[in-house]
Amino acid sequence: MANDLQQKIYIAGHRGMVGSAIVRELERQGYTNLIYRTHQELDLTNQAAVRDFFETEKPDQVYLAAAKVGGIYANNTYPAQFIYENLMVQNNVIHQAFMSGVKKLLFLGSSCIYPKLAPQPMAEDALLTGKLEPTNEPYAIAKIAGIKMCESYNRQYGKSHGVDYRSVMPTNLYGPGDNYHPENSHVIPALIRRFHEAKINCSPEVTIWGTGTPKREFLYVDDMAAASVFIMQLDPVAYEAQTEPMQSHINVGFGSDITIAQLADAIAKATGYQGQITFDPTKPDGSPRKLMDSKRLNRLGWSPKVGLEQGLAAAYDEYVKLNLRK
Ligand SMILES: NC(=O)c1ccc[n+]([C@@H]2O[C@H](COP(=O)([O-])OP(=O)(O)OC[C@H]3O[C@@H](n4cnc5c(N)ncnc54)[C@H](OP(=O)(O)O)[C@@H]3O)[C@@H](O)[C@H]2O)c1
Repeated sequence: MANDLQQKIYIAGHRGMVGSAIVRELERQGYTNLIYRTHQELDLTNQAAVRDFFETEKPDQVYLAAAKVGGIYANNTYPAQFIYENLMVQNNVIHQAFMSGVKKLLFLGSSCIYPKLAPQPMAEDALLTGKLEPTNEPYAIAKIAGIKMCESYNRQYGKSHGVDYRSVMPTNLYGPGDNYHPENSHVIPALIRRFHEAKINCSPEVTIWGTGTPKREFLYVDDMAAASVFIMQLDPVAYEAQTEPMQSHINVGFGSDITIAQLADAIAKATGYQGQITFDPTKPDGSPRKLMDSKRLNRLGWSPKVGLEQGLAAAYDEYVKLNLRK
């Protein structure tokens, strides 16, 4: 039954970067009964609308990839919206899923749930051991509440109702569906855009903020989707062997990190930019390192398939196609 391809699966956030990749992965595996609603059709902060949706549709499984997400600027400027909307979306979806009899749900979190000074690489047991990064604390608190909500429903209703709600914590993702906005995008899409524009304009130099020495980890979004479906499908005995009732989340990372300077070289190569790359050390670097410990996931039998070179080539290909369509 677990992999029955006719099961009705609701993907919340199916137009987002991760949600759309989960749809691609489920379709690739042959699932035929996927359901979605756009934000406009169903505002997930609206409790009554979410209740009506679940009562009518009664899905078998739910992937919760809808969230209000943003960079440092957005998190700092709209902290009330970040905590309110994320808590509402996840409370409504998780609770109404339970009320309508959903046994299997996967909640998407983020690596920002871990303390700012967590030992590197960050393992699952670092959760709630220290202070969070202040800029995205409201968002992180909502994500931590989501993990704890899944765990609490499992603990209270696991035996009586067969509830099995799981959580995954992705590292930095990139690939199709990414946000290439000039002022509000993550490092990979921002650099793809800058190197592409420098190539087109024949600019001799691209200057990158900071020293180029901080290390970061990146995972291609289709790998994230494959890991999400893998974890959803895992036999409960295997899942429970690697998790604990009150520490059940699973990190999803690439397993190794690279410096920003190495990343810039790789993006220059992917985009075909041949000018100079320089660094501006007067600008802030951020944390020296942020790497997830993904051993729990590796022990369960999953590892990523798409390396950085291949992933960047695919991401750049999509970026060029998007530009051509404009
Ligand atoms: N991208 C990353 O690098 C990354 C890394 C770690 C974790 N994650 C996690 O992965 C999840 C998905 O992220 P993403 O990058 O795919 O974000 P995304 O591209 O912004 O997608 C989020 C989706 O959720 C929808 N949504 C937001 N609020 C909604 C509401 N009130 N009602 C209905 N739909 C709503 C959005 O629709 P609209 O656009 O129409 O509002 C959008 O389609 C998030 O939980 C995020 O924390 C992402």
